[in-house]
Amino acid sequence: MEIQKASIRDLNALRKLEKESFDKDAWPLFDLIAVLTFPDVIRLKAVEDGLMVGFAAGDPRPSQGWGWIATIAVDPRFQRRGIGRSLLHACEGELGVPKVRLTVRLSNRAAISMYEHEGYATVDIWQAYYNDGEDAMVMEKWL
Ligand SMILES: CC(C)(COP(=O)(O)OP(=O)(O)OC[C@H]1O[C@@H](n2cnc3c(N)ncnc32)[C@H](O)[C@@H]1OP(=O)(O)O)[C@@H](O)C(=O)NCCC(=O)NCCS
Repeated sequence: MEIQKASIRDLNALRKLEKESFDKDAWPLFDLIAVLTFPDVIRLKAVEDGLMVGFAAGDPRPSQGWGWIATIAVDPRFQRRGIGRSLLHACEGELGVPKVRLTVRLSNRAAISMYEHEGYATVDIWQAYYNDGEDAMVMEKWL
């Protein structure tokens, strides 16, 4: 598995990954195009045998002193093999800020477990942040 920079050429693979990974939270097409093209966005893909098996994006906010992990997903067939952790580390490194934040559904045990193992702590709860009314945990890590 290799971590590489992603580009607009990965749009179709990213759409498929989003649908498989996020179901009701999958980003609309416009957001996927934006994440693959907007300046300053960190976009990384995990590639195995030439295929995208994971994706992460980061949004650096140096003037605020932190950046956001905007999304991270691993193809269900490739999960629990360290790919999510590798994408997270790579994205943290590329953000170039001292502190990283992210949001996660309160019910997303797999992702919360990964973030806690990687040193993230809960700093806030955003009530009814998701479309279906579920709260988001805001987690933070000093790098
Ligand atoms: C969250 C996600 C990216 C993790 O990817 P992954 O490649 O499976 O994660 P890793 O193999 O690197 O696991 C890292 C650690 O996270 C934790 N973890 C990952 N999946 C887990 C699960 N299903 N249950 C419990 N802990 C889990 C474990 O501590 C794991 O370490 P270990 O395997 O040594 O025990 C993946 O589950 C995913 O794509 N989920 C759907 C999309 C999503 O929810 N993204 C996050 C949105 S905030």
